[in-house]
Amino acid sequence: MTTTTPPTSDSTKGYVPGLAGIPAAISSISYIDGNLGILEYRGYRIETLAAKSNFEEVCWLLMKGHMPTRMQLESFRAHLAKHRQLPERMVKILEAMPGAGHPMAALQAGLAALGMFNQKPDFRHPDEVEEAWVRILAATPVIIATFERMRTGKDLVAPDPELNTAANFLWMITGQKPDEFAAHVMDVALILHADHEMNASTFAARVVGATEADPYTVCSSAIGALTGPLHGGANEEVLNQLREIPGPEHVVTWLDAKLAAKAKIMGFGHRVYKVKDPRSSILQGLATQLFAKLGSTPLYDTAVELEKEMAKRVGTKGIAPNVDFYSGIVYSKLGIQTDLFTPLFGISRVAGYLAHLREQMQDNKLFRPGQIYVGAHELEYPELRTRG
Ligand code: SDX
Repeated sequence: MTTTTPPTSDSTKGYVPGLAGIPAAISSISYIDGNLGILEYRGYRIETLAAKSNFEEVCWLLMKGHMPTRMQLESFRAHLAKHRQLPERMVKILEAMPGAGHPMAALQAGLAALGMFNQKPDFRHPDEVEEAWVRILAATPVIIATFERMRTGKDLVAPDPELNTAANFLWMITGQKPDEFAAHVMDVALILHADHEMNASTFAARVVGATEADPYTVCSSAIGALTGPLHGGANEEVLNQLREIPGPEHVVTWLDAKLAAKAKIMGFGHRVYKVKDPRSSILQGLATQLFAKLGSTPLYDTAVELEKEMAKRVGTKGIAPNVDFYSGIVYSKLGIQTDLFTPLFGISRVAGYLAHLREQMQDNKLFRPGQIYVGAHELEYPELRTRG
């Protein structure tokens, strides 16, 4: 019998906590330069896409690797509109879910259930994945809006085939047709969240996809990974943290207490970015444009002060605002409930998950990393009567 072998520097050779910086795929979908704060989708800078593109076009770009023609974009939009109507029994499944549950759980379960309505084609073929891609992109916002309307006791709002994904989501959640600018802000927010190379939930999508599981299961699994507050769940936590601070003049006291307690400040820091996340800057710009139209919010002034004070304390450590820091302030101004912020992240990121799934299946290898065993060996069985 041998006891547990304590890890030594030799025995843990090669082990990298959190696989930080270890390539898990060869990809041409998105690119990040964490030191320069650069993000590109298929070679296009995120600032360009935010200024000139739209979410549906970006979904096509991520999946296909090139921009759609006018005809392709129009038929893609029509295909999405066709699949926004959920199956009757799917609505009943959402109705049966407890309204007190988190919308991310509804989305994760909803995506798995949606897959039950599609006979199991052979998803190893890219065109089968593409059919599921359209259905999932179309249905994801509707699953969230349906759950939201049901849990708040409101009538369901049918999707409007004339509206794009962003405008339809606002319409189905609020029951009011969004004005053009609000729909544009939502559309840009969806562009910004669509992909981000090998983040935790996209990695989860690749791991599950590599087992040859179907796209619905892949997206449902990835949404589970997105839920955590260290990842997609941070945008909701940012608002909760900002609401703890009575105003900008209280930021210093609040922040020093948090940092002294070794607490993580939500919306800051990133495994790859060592400067401000470019998406955060774009969202901050959208926030100020929204405030110019709709009036500001004290939370924004507190957020700007918090960013300033964090920079003084941890800026040199490469801890800066990430995508989640300003997104919640924008969503709040659009009338979105705080616990819908992460599902909103999911509406967009399923585009990235499915693009990565297709790329994974083009040269698939099951993920099965190793480990460094530091446990015991060859123990003798202790009879029950002898156990203390
Ligand atoms: C997203 O990967 C992606 O691309 C993700 C994403 C995407 O689009 O998919 O960009 C979306 O998930 C953005 C991140 C959202 N999460 C948060 O905002 C939660 C708060 N952030 C942290 O938990 C943290 O910054 C992580 C998890 C995001 C990244 O941290 P790492 O790379 O695992 O590093 P770490 O936690 O080991 O921290 C290193 C040091 C530590 O200090 P020391 O122990 O060395 O003294 O930096 C400190 C940490 O305490 N630190 C923070 C901090 N983030 C890191 N200290 C205070 N507040 C923070 N937010």
